[in-house]
Amino acid sequence: MALACRHVLLSVFDYKTEKYVIAKNKKVGVLYRIIQLTILGYIVGWVFVTKKGYQDTEEAILSSVITKVKGVAFINTSSGSRFWGPEDYVIPQQGEAVFFITTNFIETPEQRLGYCAESIKVPDGHCRVNSDCPEGETVIAGHGVKSGRCLKKDSNSTGTCEIHGWCPVERSHKPKEPLLGKAENFTVYIKNFIRFPKFAFSKSNVLETANDTYLKRCLYDEVGHPYCPIFRLGDIVSRAGHNFQDMAVLGGAVGILIEWKCDLDKGYSQCHPQYSFTRLDASGPNSSMSSGYNFRYARHFKNPSGQSYRSLFKVYGIRFDIMVHGKAGRFSIIPTIINIGSGLALMGAGAFFCDMVLLYMMKNRTLYRERKFETDKNVNNNDKDLKAKEPNKQRSEFQQLTDLSPEN
Ligand SMILES: *[C@@H]1O[C@H](CO)[C@@H](O)[C@H](O)[C@H]1NC(C)=O
Repeated sequence: MALACRHVLLSVFDYKTEKYVIAKNKKVGVLYRIIQLTILGYIVGWVFVTKKGYQDTEEAILSSVITKVKGVAFINTSSGSRFWGPEDYVIPQQGEAVFFITTNFIETPEQRLGYCAESIKVPDGHCRVNSDCPEGETVIAGHGVKSGRCLKKDSNSTGTCEIHGWCPVERSHKPKEPLLGKAENFTVYIKNFIRFPKFAFSKSNVLETANDTYLKRCLYDEVGHPYCPIFRLGDIVSRAGHNFQDMAVLGGAVGILIEWKCDLDKGYSQCHPQYSFTRLDASGPNSSMSSGYNFRYARHFKNPSGQSYRSLFKVYGIRFDIMVHGKAGRFSIIPTIINIGSGLALMGAGAFFCDMVLLYMMKNRTLYRERKFETDKNVNNNDKDLKAKEPNKQRSEFQQLTDLSPEN
């Protein structure tokens, strides 16, 4: 017993090394080199050079976007000429990452609280007799509250209920022309501040240039001015693959994607944003029902006698959504070691594969197998002294091992 313990204790400090068998087989030798080269190429070319496997990366980008639109337009409508500035056509005016530019509108001026006929377009407002319009009931999807009277043109036709609300009601129609088509030439200044917290790296998309007037005069252009943060609205829409004047009629939604791909090993000045543009609302040939964007708002006024009235606007326009994505990488020892380690493990897998080919698929595989899995025939002789001390047990164990081996 004590002897066995000492044996185990001593064997803990033994170093075991592998024994190699060199097979002079050209086919497997070439196969092994090819596998090695492939794996080496994969690790160096793909993992390290292309995928920058030596870098620690971060994709959680912190970002803030501020926008400012500039441009004015004079337009003539049936209700007189009107001047539109950014404070009129940009909604909301705060300069957020999502902003709406009015490109078309239907104005219903001078609406007053009173009684008038419901629009013929509202199904719930149709009536034949007064009892179809119970007093006090709201018109579903309509403009007011029923007053109890049915207004008919003649006794046969369908009329509409009289309502109490803002009168006259809007006479909506599908517009054909954009009233604010000049918005195509308006510009938007996009300021984007980003930070990669893991690397304590901050930057903005506004080019740091000594030339003060550059930012006043430049206009974004993929080739000429890729880092100018001022964009013409018409360019944004055309880069998204659409025509501004067509889109301006019924409105739509456009995404502006700002992508930061920064290799921080290359330094601060090499980290630049890339812009791309895409239309977000349904825009296929069969989606004219769902594309477009409009909503309504009212401006309230009071006349000198204190009576209030309002102008109702149904506005169509383009909604711009600015989305920021980013990824930064910087050299770090841990991913480098991990990638080298997994590369070495792959090399091991290559050797294993060649072993399989050599031992099970080659012509003289039996010979190789005999060499590789050799059974030590001397075991019984060398172990004589051990056998003498524990005769029965040791002997039977070795006997079993040799008997089971398929080579014998
Ligand atoms: C935009 O500006 C250009 C040049 O200043 C002008 O030729 C063009 O007619 C303008 N487009 C619109 C829609 O006003």
